[in-house]
Amino acid sequence: MNIEEKLEKSIIAGLSTLYGQEVLASQVQLQKTKKEFQGHLTLVVFPFLRASKKSPEQTAQEIGEYLKENEPLIASFNVIKGFLNLTIASTAWVELLDIIHADENYGIISVTENSPLVMIEYSSPNTNKPLHLGHVRNNLLGHALACIMKANGNKVVKTNIVNDRGIHICKSMLAWVKYGNGETPDASGKKGDHLVGDYYVAFDKHYKAELSDLMAKGMSKEEAEANSALMNEAREMLVKWEAGDPEVRALWAKMNGWVYSGFDETYRKLGVSFDKIYYESNTYLEGKEKVLEGLEKGFFYKKDDGSVWADLTNEGLDHKLLLRADGTSVYMTQDIGTAKLRFDDYPIDKMIYVVGNEQNYHFQVLSILLDKLGFEWGKSLVHFSYGMVELPEGKMKSREGTVVDADDLIEEMVGTAKETSNELGKLDGLTAEEADNIARIVGLGALKYFILKVDARKNMTFNPKESIDFNGNTGPFIQYTYARIRSVLRKATEAGIQMASSISGLAVDLTEKEEGLIQLLADFPAVVKQAGEDYSPSIIANYAYDLVKEYNQFYHDFSILREENEDLKLFRLTLSDSVAKVVRLSMGLLGIEVPERM
Ligand code: ARG
Repeated sequence: MNIEEKLEKSIIAGLSTLYGQEVLASQVQLQKTKKEFQGHLTLVVFPFLRASKKSPEQTAQEIGEYLKENEPLIASFNVIKGFLNLTIASTAWVELLDIIHADENYGIISVTENSPLVMIEYSSPNTNKPLHLGHVRNNLLGHALACIMKANGNKVVKTNIVNDRGIHICKSMLAWVKYGNGETPDASGKKGDHLVGDYYVAFDKHYKAELSDLMAKGMSKEEAEANSALMNEAREMLVKWEAGDPEVRALWAKMNGWVYSGFDETYRKLGVSFDKIYYESNTYLEGKEKVLEGLEKGFFYKKDDGSVWADLTNEGLDHKLLLRADGTSVYMTQDIGTAKLRFDDYPIDKMIYVVGNEQNYHFQVLSILLDKLGFEWGKSLVHFSYGMVELPEGKMKSREGTVVDADDLIEEMVGTAKETSNELGKLDGLTAEEADNIARIVGLGALKYFILKVDARKNMTFNPKESIDFNGNTGPFIQYTYARIRSVLRKATEAGIQMASSISGLAVDLTEKEEGLIQLLADFPAVVKQAGEDYSPSIIANYAYDLVKEYNQFYHDFSILREENEDLKLFRLTLSDSVAKVVRLSMGLLGIEVPERM
């Protein structure tokens, strides 16, 4: 039982003794005491006035006196109008810290055989170009969400749907055949996904040139587009791909292979991973089958040209294309097939799609279509919809000057972290390898934290310079505080100070700051729970910041190793160690590493 629960019990007993009123725990409103008042927890007494038949002040006074007499947790109290501010005894805080300190997985609910299974889809790139800044936000959110759902006692399966087929993939392939001269990642030293992306750009360039040629010869834009030899060739390639033409399939497998090794490298650098990867090339036919089944059952209809549609006007939406006139599938068809396979493969209790908010409509439709097709889980699918991310104008433009490449961004961040740390002398005395590792941890920490501290639904600007500031609400600030605590603990060990396995019963008088820190540590399990319920990594990020801010004030105001009272020294070391642990766990839930020194 935690402090709140114990207090609740005593308050219920008190109300019964004082006024003969029986209340439920849910009617006892205990909140954290506001900063401007003395105390830790505040009881709102207004709901009990009918029973007490006294003024709010008198009622609060009587309950306060009862608690001081009968509840050892309470050291003192004060009354402000109908609010009873309760001060918890130092001994109770020490006991609480002792419990927090002993629990290696504090705040984390363990997963058992009977835990619900949550599948989280994230990343989900197309194989015609490398990952960009938008994917970075997606990957970070998806990975953090997976950690948070797991910490809330769910089995988590991280999945990815790779959109590996379609006209856009054929464009890169065709351009490579035409203009590539057999270029390979090995021979050119280019990362595979970048190489393929370059041919996607090359296709576009040649296509545009062809269009202006045709238009110069007097064609309208539409005519030019219809007559483009290049585009027609790409379409023919797609038809051949669908027919399983061995040559086209071999080229496709080769180029996608290059892309996958490129993606793997980016994922590895970002520290994200997947338990199961689905490929559109394996799921789109399933989707087609399901759509045809739906057509037979009368859920969908066929137009004269042979295309298949869903009429969603009853649901307040419009008509949605499911199969083209030539029988080829569209984006939605693939998603139906992918969903079916996933639910065949796993006993999924909850399906979460981490996909940008430009696809809100798509997922609204998908949910209805799955439901119509008889998948009852369709209705309850969660679209974790996040906003756009941009850079402050002019900064860190990528090669093409438009999208920000993920690999470039990571490299810049790690480079800047190294420069900044060097300037601050934080890497002095370290081996080159150690220094590189710290720069990597700090650079990525800056990037990840800056993105994850923002409410995912909001559009945001990623400001590289601000993100890497060693002060303020940043990853490096939190990492630095962690490293500082670890350094204090190392020094303690060097000085031969043994951290006791338990501080239970330690008689120390605590200051408000210390009690406040323990109270903040005690919030952690509720913070993890809230983050899981709201699907909100930012709740964890901002909690971690509040915690280190409080700790730094404490560190500034009090001595630890130089404290003369041995009990107090031991207490403060235990407090510091616990803060470090909770910082590490919080950052871990965000997929952010913390360095032992920096
Ligand atoms: N590959 C798609 C794109 O780049 C995103 C896929 C999102 N996931 C899904 N199940 N539809 O737009």
